[in-house]
Amino acid sequence: MERRSAESRQGRPHREAPRVVGLLLTMALTNALLYLCLDQFFSSPPRSTEAPRPCPHGFFKMGQMRNCSPWLSCQELRTQVRQLKRVGEGAVKRVFLSEWQERKVALSQLTSPEMKDDFLHGLQMLKSLQSKHTVTLLGYCEEDNTILTEYHPLGSLNNLEKTLNLSKYRTMNTWQQRLQLAMDYVGIIDYLHRSPLGTLVMCDSSDLPKTLSQYLLTSNLGIVANDLDALPLVDHSSGMLVKCGRRELRGEFVAPEQLWPSGEHMPFRDDLMPPYDEKVDIWKIPDVSSFLLGHTEGSDMVRFHLFDIHKACKSQIPAERPTAQDVLDTYQKVLKSLGDVVPSQTREML
Ligand SMILES: Nc1ncnc2c1ncn2[C@@H]1O[C@H](COP(=O)(O)OP(=O)(O)O)[C@@H](O)[C@H]1O
Ligand SMILES: [Mg+2]
Repeated sequence: MERRSAESRQGRPHREAPRVVGLLLTMALTNALLYLCLDQFFSSPPRSTEAPRPCPHGFFKMGQMRNCSPWLSCQELRTQVRQLKRVGEGAVKRVFLSEWQERKVALSQLTSPEMKDDFLHGLQMLKSLQSKHTVTLLGYCEEDNTILTEYHPLGSLNNLEKTLNLSKYRTMNTWQQRLQLAMDYVGIIDYLHRSPLGTLVMCDSSDLPKTLSQYLLTSNLGIVANDLDALPLVDHSSGMLVKCGRRELRGEFVAPEQLWPSGEHMPFRDDLMPPYDEKVDIWKIPDVSSFLLGHTEGSDMVRFHLFDIHKACKSQIPAERPTAQDVLDTYQKVLKSLGDVVPSQTREML
């Protein structure tokens, strides 16, 4: 018995080897075929480099929608959208989680008539700047002061730490993921500075929490710009510069050229306040990126490698600051050069 079973253990594989190999090959081939077929039917995984084909102007696609749909009209917004609960509010808009065709959507309503100009400017920008960098517009009704956009359950960038502490996202709390977020953010600034409408300045950003509230965190941990209510246009060729609002700005978060230059002895006057350009956005990048990098293992190492470019962003002379594209290039290089480093090795590199 012993011998026979030993024989069968050792001897049979020799005879059956070609059959087993054949079987394995067939299985591998079937798996490969199945994978290729399924890939045709399902959307690409999160953070795929492959960009989904955009819809033409006036149309949208979200989630698992197969085709582009036209923006919803006033009539459709009134009859097909059901408000569920309030999820956010700023100076211009009150935002409600709502339902449209069994999908979750965000309905924004104007808070007060005095803010109508900002509301309409934001809507115009949203219409013109639809891209992977901005929240998807689903419809609008100027008559009712409503805008319908894709709903992002994680809310604004202010919720980043809270989100990365959830069990579902804890494994994504890595310096690589966080640097990727910083690249998304700088990618948006770069897009606005070289937008189809020209050089736009992200003005609604007088402090860090306010700045973060204008961007949404997507479920696959990306960033989209959401609040485009204050995006004035700079035109260097005609010397057209901008001012972010009519009130005095204070603090270190805003660029030095945004501060009242005449000191305490002279009260602020908007008509005497000099205008500035898009480099005010560059000044703010190190602070926003540092928030996004957070305090996970490896974050300080990334900060160390970004030290020089961030120092350049903080130049007192706006023209000496890099462009958003320069910053993005540097972030990409840092991600590539540190890409192979495993987190445990990262501290030794400092
Ligand atoms: N599409 C959305 N999905 C989820 N939350 C949203 C969405 N749009 C807005 N919010 C929430 O509402 C807040 C206010 O929206 P925002 O457009 O910035 O209003 P305002 O123009 O008044 O500042 C955001 O900071 C965010 O928390
Ligand atoms: Mg806002």
